Amino acid sequence: MIKTPMENVNGELYIDGVSTIKLVEEYGTPLYVISEKRIRENYRRLFDAFQKRYTKVRILYSAKANTNISVLKILKSEGAWIDAVSPGEIYISLEAGFLPSQILYTGTSVSEWEIEYALEKGVTINIDSLSQIKKMLKKKTPSTISVRINTEVGAGHHEYTITATKASKFGVDEKTALKIYDMAKKAGVRNFGIHMHIGSGIMEVTPFIKSTEKLLETAKKVQEELGIIFSFIDLGGGIGVPYKPEEKEVDIEDFASKLVEFFKGKVEDLSLGQPELWLEPGRYLVADACILLTKVNVIKRTPYRIFAGVDAGFNTLIRPAMYGSYHHMVVANKLKEEPAEKYDIVGPLCESGDILAKDRLLPILSEGDVLAILNAGAYGYSMSSQYNSRPRPAEILVMNGRYEIVRERETFQDLMRGQRVASWLKA
Ligand code: LLP
Repeated sequence: MIKTPMENVNGELYIDGVSTIKLVEEYGTPLYVISEKRIRENYRRLFDAFQKRYTKVRILYSAKANTNISVLKILKSEGAWIDAVSPGEIYISLEAGFLPSQILYTGTSVSEWEIEYALEKGVTINIDSLSQIKKMLKKKTPSTISVRINTEVGAGHHEYTITATKASKFGVDEKTALKIYDMAKKAGVRNFGIHMHIGSGIMEVTPFIKSTEKLLETAKKVQEELGIIFSFIDLGGGIGVPYKPEEKEVDIEDFASKLVEFFKGKVEDLSLGQPELWLEPGRYLVADACILLTKVNVIKRTPYRIFAGVDAGFNTLIRPAMYGSYHHMVVANKLKEEPAEKYDIVGPLCESGDILAKDRLLPILSEGDVLAILNAGAYGYSMSSQYNSRPRPAEILVMNGRYEIVRERETFQDLMRGQRVASWLKA
């Protein structure tokens, strides 16, 4: 699973020309290391696959996967727009230099102040409920809106990452969508989009096609009943990446060809005009562009298991604990050594569920070894926490032999930030 720009240099893991061991010596662990080159490659591969088949394609990076501002700036320079799901993501995207018109805000359980914030910043709002449009129109009529449709065709790597089913909290049904578009049009909205996002970590194109079919049929209904011609149709994010060595990458040429062919055909059949096709990938762009380096603190042999206690836990990377996700690991300083023993890789938190990997076959580990946890770029740092009062790790960006810290390691002061002692508790 060590692939470009990672390489094995005399048994040591390098990433785009930089020794991970050197980085650990300089910055400590746990440490997230991000490859700019890989992000750019991922973006270009995806964009080219779609753009050569449909010129009016736009990629909105789903910022929730990784909101490091350098990552946002890299994707901005590639031409990406932003899928933001909170005012905080709008804020940081604006800080990164995106224009308000390049940001689509897809909230859920959206509060009054969040609507006001989005309106005030002038980003495009993707409506998630009837309640939201009513509240929004009382404040202001924006020039553009979009509506998130629940197509009831969901998919994803875990039940928690499926976002379009009958029981799902996201989006609205067709009848509600008609009401929303009607209200918006009557209020003076002039430019419209329609949106779906069916789930995350999807390795096949079929669910996208099925859901696109339903989405386009809803678009047609809206067009017929309200005379709305859509300027963009957003098929959401969700394209998966392989996490296990035996898994194959999504063949993105084949994926794009099947999806675009279907989209084009259906748009033409239904006479939906010439809408832009939008995509909202998060994971696909950043997952394999980042590794998490963690040091082995303790080797503990019990009568039943061999534990390697490392300094990253589910405070650092929650995916294994939360979804049972597999993340491949290599021993960054022992790449030449053969796998020899099965370890449970566990973190420093006082929780039995603080397990990064179970029964993982690795070379014989010693205390002080450095594990590189692969595919940590999506939903890694962005889902980290200070649980057990452990400051969050640092992030390093590497590019062509250069490296720089792009987020400082938190300190104990960060644990206290914003906390105040109640006046009656002061001595
Ligand atoms: N668009 C919307 C509206 C979304 O909610 C999401 C992800 C995306 C796009 C991007 O999905 P992606 O291309 O990254 O699959 N924490 C989970 C994933 C949750 C995804 C939430 N929404 C995980 O670590 O697997």
